[in-house]
Amino acid sequence: MPNDQLRAIVQQMPKAELHIHIEGSLEPELIFALAQRNGISLAYPSVDALRAAYAFTDLQSFLDIYYAGASVLIKEQDFYDMTAAYLARAAADNVVHAEIFFDPQTHTERGIAFETMINGIWRACQDGPISAGLIMCFLRHLSEEEALATLEDALPFRDKLIGVGLDSSEQGHPPEKFARVFARCRQLGLHLVAHAGEEGPPAYISTALDVLQVERIDHGVRCLEDAALTSRLAREQVALTVCPLSNVKLRVFGDMGSHNLLDLLDAGLLATVNSDDPAYFGGYMNDNFLAVFDALPLSRVHAQRLARNSFLAAFLDPVQKQGYLDEVDRFFATI
Ligand code: ADE
Ligand code: ZN
Repeated sequence: MPNDQLRAIVQQMPKAELHIHIEGSLEPELIFALAQRNGISLAYPSVDALRAAYAFTDLQSFLDIYYAGASVLIKEQDFYDMTAAYLARAAADNVVHAEIFFDPQTHTERGIAFETMINGIWRACQDGPISAGLIMCFLRHLSEEEALATLEDALPFRDKLIGVGLDSSEQGHPPEKFARVFARCRQLGLHLVAHAGEEGPPAYISTALDVLQVERIDHGVRCLEDAALTSRLAREQVALTVCPLSNVKLRVFGDMGSHNLLDLLDAGLLATVNSDDPAYFGGYMNDNFLAVFDALPLSRVHAQRLARNSFLAAFLDPVQKQGYLDEVDRFFATI
């Protein structure tokens, strides 16, 4: 198949996004607009100067600038505007369903009320052009006590959440640090996910599954270093929410040609493609799809599998899920 035809297919196919940090969708232009609106002075003189600072060497070097960027979010409308911008951008890439991470502790630590943040994000999802669910992430560089306090803050908004996750600095903060808070979230009927095996070792993927009992692994690309773990992930069809541009920007892989997405698929894993922090890593969903399809020997069969995987891995009810899978299959039957 000619490459431009395959490129058109991956752009046009219906897809779900399952790994997007809403704070990571904050474009430099919006950071500057919100800073001005809220009377905040930034450490960078211009949008271009801020963008020029996006030269990361690892996860921590990114997180430092990502948390600084989020400091312009003060009012409910700020959270609304950020989320509305992401949803419009996702819809333009034929994302029809998104499961969106947010980091409450990044905001409550700055004195922003939990309700300010969640009401803004939630209202934008209600008004948005695609279906969306919210996943509250605990920051793993903070303590489990702080995560438990955040869960308490979230309880009045329980019905606005589909699940909880675990993000931020991975190395030295293993999943088992959060065993009690995840057990409590499981009792509350929340879906569970965790970042693991991005920079951290494959053992973190195992403990995320065994101790936290998560249903999906965010990233998980280092699983291939452990053959027994890889077999298990394939057998149990544990979804991996892979983020190709993020992995290259944060130097998990040296370049896109070295990315292991195709190896994950060949190992029978339920891998999906996602954008992670699109404003920081050079692209939204279709940019990620195009980057991997340009760099790796992926075919139309892989495109259909990745689109199907995104819905198979989504926290949708069975009827909705089948509806989206049928939509994918109809799309591929007509092109
Ligand atoms: N927070 C935002 N993006 C992240 C990533 N890629 N890994 C861990 N925490 C994050
Ligand atoms: Zn992430």
